[in-house]
Amino acid sequence: MKGIIRIAVDGPGGAGKSTVAKAVAARLGIDYVDTGAMYRAIGYKMREEGIEPDDTERLEAMLDDTDIDFADGDIILDGVVVNDKIRTPEISKAASMCSALPQVRAKLVDIQRSMGMKKSVIMDGRDIGSNVLKDAEYKFFLTASAEERADRRYKELTEKGENVSFDEVLADIKERDHRDRTRELNPLVMAEDAVEIDSTDLSIEEVIDRIVKEIE
Ligand code: DC
Repeated sequence: MKGIIRIAVDGPGGAGKSTVAKAVAARLGIDYVDTGAMYRAIGYKMREEGIEPDDTERLEAMLDDTDIDFADGDIILDGVVVNDKIRTPEISKAASMCSALPQVRAKLVDIQRSMGMKKSVIMDGRDIGSNVLKDAEYKFFLTASAEERADRRYKELTEKGENVSFDEVLADIKERDHRDRTRELNPLVMAEDAVEIDSTDLSIEEVIDRIVKEIE
């Protein structure tokens, strides 16, 4: 384990975790693991296969038969790149729903822990510092107001040509926040030893600089 560093970046949806973590990974020359993408991939597969959350038998069979990996920044579900398919408002909701299921969390947390054992990583999500990599060397908790996060997500979606209203995006963000914070299993909480960064009035570059400075 000597020489390996693990960096956990948690926080609510739309706080800029992925953008920041990806950039920090590039600066430090380490791997980036987007755990939200893993929940999205499972949510996507459940929808594709029409599996209801309470259909334990089919859910468990599907999980046993599912392979999730990352390669060159792409998320690979059963051998297929699904980057674009998992970034829609429907899949955001599906991911949040499936992330409350114990079988789904058990499978993904296992994969995430083994990814964090082999080499230095920066991993972003909701429960990385509080659960997945409890002994991570560095932990950050990235926040921003719901309005600011909705504004960023709205711009991102409209740039991609999605037909959504700002109010819809804000309502989705608030609903997802509530679900992520109140679920029974590994809810979104700040680890006691995490450094909190409120990015409401900071640029992405400023957030990246603060994290890199803390580590160096
Ligand atoms: O970060 P994101 O929006 O891509 O995450 C999608 C959903 O996955 C989010 O609603 C909560 C869930 N999630 C989780 O429960 N635990 C994680 N470590 C990462 C994401």
